[in-house]
Amino acid sequence: MKSLPDLSLVEKILFSGFIFLVGLGLLCAEAYTYISIAGLNGKPGVQIQDLVIHYYGNRSASKLQTMLPSMMVMAHVPVDERGKMESVVNRWVKGGESKSYYQQQVRPLINGNCLKCHAIGMPNIGTFTLLKSQAHVDMGMPYSAMLMNGMIHLSTLGVIYFLAGWIFVRTRTAVWLKIVVVGLPFLAFFLDFAGWFLTKQNPNFVWLVLVGGVLSCPVALLGMALSLLQMWFLKPMEKDKQAAPGELVQNG
Ligand code: HEC
Repeated sequence: MKSLPDLSLVEKILFSGFIFLVGLGLLCAEAYTYISIAGLNGKPGVQIQDLVIHYYGNRSASKLQTMLPSMMVMAHVPVDERGKMESVVNRWVKGGESKSYYQQQVRPLINGNCLKCHAIGMPNIGTFTLLKSQAHVDMGMPYSAMLMNGMIHLSTLGVIYFLAGWIFVRTRTAVWLKIVVVGLPFLAFFLDFAGWFLTKQNPNFVWLVLVGGVLSCPVALLGMALSLLQMWFLKPMEKDKQAAPGELVQNG
């Protein structure tokens, strides 16, 4: 098997094109994951608690209450009014979501601040029934969404990791490094995937999601970067001892 620096120009273009576009896709996936998880607990950045809320939910508070801190920021609610809005919503939910308290206290705040997005495109929360449905306790990601995510991610990442590994096998690196870079992304993504379901049962399993997430795409990306570097910057071997007889004839 030819090592990466010894590939023909066309093969190098083929492998590099794959690594470039798919690598960019993986970076987008990482950024998307970060953005959709960051701030779920109301604090900036990604914290372990954000992952717990994503999969297990925040079962001590409803989706409405969970989303409220970050949504008030999105809705540009003035800082000194955020505390009031939060306590009105909390009182409404604690008191069993009564219609009268909704009409007097909750509706003016929601309809004044939130409907610019939540009447068009985003889930509508402009009526009693619609808002009440958001006030149910947040049980985290539904199983159907996990299965859907699993279906998409397991199959696409499986193929991507296979091709990236198939390229990486041709680098001039130690065998142990090849085993790690080729094998780890598969194993890690499986741990990540299993972690979603286990975390949904028990938030203590969230470390599986974290470890799995950190070791799957990032390791594959490192491998892709190393493949690219070797392909274009290492010198080809002048006499490839392992070249097939046919190639020797062509070269000489
Ligand atoms: C600038 C647009 C915007 C404004 C203003 C806004 N939201 Fe949102 N809201 C969104 C987007 C986008 C999502 C989906 C985000 C996601 O799923 O992570 C969302 C999701 C939600 C959800 C979860 C809906 C669901 O079914 O998943 C709730 C509840 C919510 N917002 C409440 C509010 C409240 C209350 C306000 C007013 C304080 C508000 N939003 C203001 C854009 C907005």
